[in-house]
Amino acid sequence: MNNNTNQYVPSIGLGTYNMSSEEAEKMTYEAIKYGYRHIDTAAVYKNEDGVARALKRIFKETQLRRDDVFITTKLWPGGLIKLDRIRDYKDTLKSFEKSLMRLNLEYIDLYLIHSPHGKNKRIEQWKSLMKLKETEKVKYIGVSNWGINHINELKENDLPLPDANQIEIHPWSQKPELIKYLRENNIDIIAYSSLVPLSSWRHKVGENSKKTDEMYKLGESDDSPFKLLAQKYKCTEAQFLLQWAVQQNFAVLPKTVNLDRMKENFDFNFEINQNDMHYVQTLDMGGSITWEYGDPLKVQ
Ligand SMILES: NC(=O)c1ccc[n+]([C@@H]2O[C@H](COP(=O)([O-])OP(=O)(O)OC[C@H]3O[C@@H](n4cnc5c(N)ncnc54)[C@H](OP(=O)(O)O)[C@@H]3O)[C@@H](O)[C@H]2O)c1
Repeated sequence: MNNNTNQYVPSIGLGTYNMSSEEAEKMTYEAIKYGYRHIDTAAVYKNEDGVARALKRIFKETQLRRDDVFITTKLWPGGLIKLDRIRDYKDTLKSFEKSLMRLNLEYIDLYLIHSPHGKNKRIEQWKSLMKLKETEKVKYIGVSNWGINHINELKENDLPLPDANQIEIHPWSQKPELIKYLRENNIDIIAYSSLVPLSSWRHKVGENSKKTDEMYKLGESDDSPFKLLAQKYKCTEAQFLLQWAVQQNFAVLPKTVNLDRMKENFDFNFEINQNDMHYVQTLDMGGSITWEYGDPLKVQ
């Protein structure tokens, strides 16, 4: 296991997007039993109840206690599509209470605003997270998919900055400017969708994104950079991609519904040399791939 130099967020967590409640229950239970200590869910994933059932079993059957695991969930801010009502200060508090209830917990470790789509209510939403942090119900508060402009709004309003920002990062989407800004401002960086370059990434019907057929072909090719690098480091492609992120002190959230992959995504311990880190830097395509509705960082 790798050392974690983030201030608050454990380096490897289980992602649960695209999991049903039942899948989230099974994978959360197995992952924590295997050694994972961080689970990432969200109100909009509609599987917080599954995570809750797994935690209940874990606390009953093992020596682990609540403070041995780190649970992240997210406020759906609204505003993504026309009918998606934007949450105000009170709605945000209510949404939090609902997540807490569904998770059947006394507190959440990290509560994030899922995206900047709250537009003119972003500040209001942030103030309600600040209020929550004053209580014992949440330890850390943060944002997700917020760019420099969005975080600067907090500075302009003399508000405290987020503890963490969860963003899409992988070799095809490296966001150097945003990373530099987050580091300068001591904001923990949580990378999501680390495995985008794999040909097996979101390959099932209904698992949508902006990944193109050409990108899928790139991942399938025998001489794809990550196949060659995995051979060189005697690891799997997924492990190479995860180490690439962890080595830069990003927390990662690999999602899988497969038990062997869950273990593979946790069991890696090697260093990528500087030449190869520099080479991977050249593979950046810019932009974003994960969100089918377009890059959330671009929201005004
Ligand atoms: N804040 C946000 O806006 C946001 C957006 C996206 C994601 N996230 C968070 O980040 C987590 C991870 O991102 P993600 O779900 O986009 O995808 P990911 O973890 O980058 O990749 C998951 C995909 O790769 C496959 N996979 C997993 N491990 C593998 C392995 N070892 N070898 C080959 N294929 C493997 C999975 O298939 P199987 O499941 O079939 O194994 C799935 O299709 C999410 O679950 C969520 O918690 C947050």
